[in-house]
Amino acid sequence: MAVLNDKNVILDVRNLSIDYRPLDQAPVQAVRNVSFQLRQGEVMGLVGESGCGKTTLMLGLMRLLPAGGRIVTGQVNFMGRDLMQLSEPEMNGVRWKNISMIFQGAMNALNPVHTVGDQIAEALLLHTPTREKAVLDARVLELLDLVGIAASRKDQYPHQYSGGMRQRAMIAMALACNPQVVIADEPTTALDVMIQAQILELLSNLRRELGLAIIFVTHDLGVVAEMCDAVLVMYGGVTAELADVDTIYNEPAHPYTQELLRAFPDLTRPGEKLTAIPGYPPRLDPPPPGCRFAPRCPKVFERCTQEEPMLHELGDGHVASCHLVTT
Ligand SMILES: Nc1ncnc2c1ncn2[C@@H]1O[C@H](COP(=O)(O)OP(=O)(O)OP(=O)(O)O)[C@@H](O)[C@H]1O
Ligand SMILES: [Mg+2]
Repeated sequence: MAVLNDKNVILDVRNLSIDYRPLDQAPVQAVRNVSFQLRQGEVMGLVGESGCGKTTLMLGLMRLLPAGGRIVTGQVNFMGRDLMQLSEPEMNGVRWKNISMIFQGAMNALNPVHTVGDQIAEALLLHTPTREKAVLDARVLELLDLVGIAASRKDQYPHQYSGGMRQRAMIAMALACNPQVVIADEPTTALDVMIQAQILELLSNLRRELGLAIIFVTHDLGVVAEMCDAVLVMYGGVTAELADVDTIYNEPAHPYTQELLRAFPDLTRPGEKLTAIPGYPPRLDPPPPGCRFAPRCPKVFERCTQEEPMLHELGDGHVASCHLVTT
């Protein structure tokens, strides 16, 4: 990855911690002390098994947590402002206009009774001063073209679209207000392999053409290798490892990253046996003492079950939270 200097940092997340406090139940410590930086035009992969806190981290930084969700500590610096300190109207000015999100399962969230074109126009109206129909129509067509949907489809309803087209329409909505950062939360999970590849190519092109910074949340390490510059590996709500993509694939330091990679097919190493990680991620209400990965870790030793490992810097931008890297 090209080393970019810090003035290119567009989003700087520091020590973000998020709880869910369901009524009458113990709080879920869903995200703890996660920090990362995103540079202009950079794609960061966010990976980790189900329940590791990926969606919570993203909803938290957009301040879109569901009821019961609460930011406990942390800063989200975006273009010189800490988003956590903004008033709700100020934050409304940032969402979609500066940072937008394609939600997990989003393609099913289109409204069935409005045409796709109208729904994209609706997203535009959130931040565009004009209400002039001709101007809005032109921009809707421009956005449809950007995501590869024919102009003739503008006045159709979501049920007339295929799954891949619905996902493209959601991407068009996310791009409506020219954001600098787009968060894509598993944007291809429900799509077949061919359509998935097309959507990924679309996102790569948009990044190149528009200079977008993208946070790409996924379970698919193959996609990460292809798309991303940097990778944040989360486990049980904490950062297991963060590094540029080559380091993650060639010199993973955290046993969780190593196990995740062993569970994925690698085309360059045909015949290699895939091994699933036995067991499940921990409950977080509260998390177990020590390292959260200890119960499943093939390299576990005594200290792991007693003391929580802190994040340790291994090199330029490479951090991991494992006692093995500090001893
Ligand atoms: N609304 C909620 N109320 C209480 N707990 C929640 C809520 N949403 C998520 N959680 C808990 O927070 C933790 C993190 O969940 P989250 O959805 O962020 O994980 P994820 O990494 O996005 O998983 P997936 O890959 O399945 O999308 C989990 O333990 C989950 O059970
Ligand atoms: Mg999720």
